[in-house]
This record gives sequence, C-alpha cells and structure tokens, in this order.
Amino acid sequence: MKQIAVFASGSGSNAEHLAVTFAKGNRARVAAIYCNNPKAYVIQRAAKLNIPLVLFTRAEFADAESLIRDLQARQIDLIVLAGFLWLVPETLTRAFAGRLVNIHPALLPKFGGKGMYGMAVHKAVLDAGEKESGITIHLIDEVYDRGKTLLQVKCPVLPDDTPESLAERVHQLEYSHFPGAIEKML
Ligand code: GAR
Repeated sequence: MKQIAVFASGSGSNAEHLAVTFAKGNRARVAAIYCNNPKAYVIQRAAKLNIPLVLFTRAEFADAESLIRDLQARQIDLIVLAGFLWLVPETLTRAFAGRLVNIHPALLPKFGGKGMYGMAVHKAVLDAGEKESGITIHLIDEVYDRGKTLLQVKCPVLPDDTPESLAERVHQLEYSHFPGAIEKML
C-alpha cells in the first residue's frame, strides 16, 4: 500500500475527495494531511476522516528538516499539493524529487506564478476573456507552477461565468481527474 501525504492550505475539498477515493481501494491511502493554516477548513475535514493532521509554521516549512523527518517516519511515497499556497523549499523538492505533484486550476503556463491561487486564478482567466480554462497536474520543482506537466484537461469558459461558477466547473474536473493521475504516478 502506497502512502500519500496531501498538503492543503484552505478548504481541502480535493484532499477529502482523494482520501475518500483511495480509501475505496487497496493500492494507496492518504496517510496524513499537512497544513500551514491553523484556520483552514481542511483541518476539520481531516478530523472527520480520521486522518492525522500536521500543522506547521512558515519557519518549519522553510527549514523543512523536521517535516522531512515526519514524512519519512510515515513512509510517505508521494506528496500531493492540493490547494497549497506556499512555494516548496528546495530541501523538500530535492528529498522528494519526482514524487511531488501539484494541481493548478488553470491551463499552465498561463495564469500561474506567485499569487495565482484558487479564486484569484479564475478571476484572472475571466478578466483575460479566455474561452477555455481547465486543470494542470504537474511535478513540482523550485519554481512556482513550472514542473513537468503530467496532465491537462480543458473545460469551456461560458459567457455568463462568474469566478465562482468557473471554480465549480474546474473543481469538478479536479475531482474527476486527480485521483487517476496520482494512481498513474504510483
Ligand atoms: C483547487 O482548485 C486547486 O487547484 C487550487 O486551489 C483549489 C483548492 O480547493 N490550487 C491552486 O490554486 C494552486 N496554485 P480545495 O481546497 O477545495 O481542494
């Protein structure tokens, strides 16, 4: 059984969807959820799902040594960033090279980079008048949203879309494709 660690900063609906999906099989499981935000709703989701929650500060993340020890102690095979806000430090990208994956709610390389998180991404897509958006699942390296692309899936942007309606369409794509993309990596 492969051990997955999910990093999340906010609501954590992807974290929950991954945990529930993998719990149905015997190939992998979400062994822990890591969070940088003590107010994030994902903390309540972790409690409900009975999944260990590791909360860390910016300093602990930047140094990464104690986090890496924790990840190793849990025998984590793959780190999944699902709505995680901070740039991953090189110590961590090196320790988990090729085993660190992110989901981005747009078609990279457009609408990526610093500050491009969650609703800000959908607003930017609408402001730019794009006709389509989608998801990008990619490996993580030291630069925001620039690692090797594993999968992109598109969806239309509709004339009357709001950031919320577009976010909902993109979230549905994430739920449909993220577990399978992770399964492939495992
Ligand atoms: C997801 O749409 C994810 O793609 C996005 O944040 C949302 C988190 O939703 N990630 C980024 O924007 C990363 N740059 P969730 O907390 O409900 O899973």
